[in-house]
Amino acid sequence: MKVLVTQHIPEAGLQILRGENIEVTVLKGRPRKNRIISELKKEPYDGMIVLLTDTIDGEVIAATGSNMRIIANYAVGFNNIAVAAAKEKHIAVTNTPGVLTETVAEHAVALILAAATRTIEADAFVRNNKFTGWEPELLLGIDLQGKTLGILGAGRIGSRVAEIMTGFGMNIVYYDVRANQALEQATEAKQYDAPEEVLKTADVISVHLPLNEQTHHFLNAERLALLKPAAILVNTSRGPVIDEKALIAALQERKIFGAALDVFEHEPKVPRALRRLPNVVLTPHTASASITTRNRMAEIAAQNVIAVLHGGTPLNPVE
Ligand code: GLV
Ligand code: GLV
Repeated sequence: MKVLVTQHIPEAGLQILRGENIEVTVLKGRPRKNRIISELKKEPYDGMIVLLTDTIDGEVIAATGSNMRIIANYAVGFNNIAVAAAKEKHIAVTNTPGVLTETVAEHAVALILAAATRTIEADAFVRNNKFTGWEPELLLGIDLQGKTLGILGAGRIGSRVAEIMTGFGMNIVYYDVRANQALEQATEAKQYDAPEEVLKTADVISVHLPLNEQTHHFLNAERLALLKPAAILVNTSRGPVIDEKALIAALQERKIFGAALDVFEHEPKVPRALRRLPNVVLTPHTASASITTRNRMAEIAAQNVIAVLHGGTPLNPVE
């Protein structure tokens, strides 16, 4: 059997495939959509492992041969895949939930702390040799103790961030289409039916929504205007959930205290205006990037491929 991997992933996953006598083809570099399409047309692949940076739309799915049975995304988010088109061709689509929850949550917490304590600005200050003496009002940040954390999207990751932040003495409010009783029990979190209530109430907002038609620009200019002047906005989900232009304007006009972003609207493009702002912390979509987690993501993607190619059901199907 043949499996296409669109870009190099950790060996841990490739070894699992090869151990099952699967012929693995890993494309070089960062292939564009057309390269993936031409590769799919060249060989009768049985499965593929793709990255969140690959656009697996209807056109790519249409190029898959009749052998194709699974597309395993090397990510938990799967907005890059036309799931309905795959389903129509009876191709399973899977993701890598669970294994990256802790790692992404810890990164989100790091971003919250970095924005609140102005760690990155302070680091640059010292490196640029600007530290000329202790000052009562140098680089003042924001305390988290007793403040309210607003979680948008209380799934696995959002819930874990909330749990960790209760250790910092934060109160939790959340918006989700579903109630999360486990979260409420663990943290006394309060659910709001309207996201607006969370935005008006919270001092720190952490975004954990999946990207889909309903959540594109979920945080638009109108909603961003509801944030408190001392608010911090953190996004480790997907860039297009926030109207990036509107956020830049809010930051430039000091309508909020700061933001910390791991994801951007048009990755890998990060607008110059954003890069120039001192009150933002920026990381290059590395929230899940721990050695262990990236290996486990590769293993899970491979295990999903094997489960399906052996005639079983996928371990982590997405809907
Ligand atoms: C990373 O962004 C992921 O969805 O796994
Ligand atoms: C993603 O895994 C989430 O549920 O937050």
